[in-house]
Amino acid sequence: MQQTLSILKPDTVKKNAIGKVISYLEKGGLTVVAAKMLHLSKEKAEQFYDIHQGKPFFNDLVEFMTSGPVVVMVLEGEDAIMKNREIMGATNPKEAKPGTIRADFAESIDANAVHGSDAEETAKREIAFFFKPDEICSTAAK
Ligand code: CMP
Repeated sequence: MQQTLSILKPDTVKKNAIGKVISYLEKGGLTVVAAKMLHLSKEKAEQFYDIHQGKPFFNDLVEFMTSGPVVVMVLEGEDAIMKNREIMGATNPKEAKPGTIRADFAESIDANAVHGSDAEETAKREIAFFFKPDEICSTAAK
């Protein structure tokens, strides 16, 4: 059992597609074990994407991620990190395989519908960034 952080980005929320996108994740074998909606401040978005500081796309990324509310979730399942990345599809929607979230919902590399942790260490850091341990209702703990 593994956990990963998922963010439904402002484009997904604006399109009223929260439920549709979550259904892709659930059909793919992942379970939502924590969720909240919030509007990221500039500081919080910069902190979350700290690893991308200095890259040419950093300012546009922060601007987009603060342009409206997002839904942050912890997803749980076997091999959840890789599974989530497969269901999301490639970062650039033009390269995303048909049937993936980004192929079906994303409009551009910034407005790309979802974020998902890319590795175990990142998942731990990203989950702790948004959730306290007692806010996560792990199925494994039951
Ligand atoms: P995400 O998975 O949220 O992680 C960083 C985000 O930066 C990425 O999705 C994209 O939305 C955005 N981004 C914009 N340009 C690029 C790029 N050239 N390479 C990677 N990510 C990019």
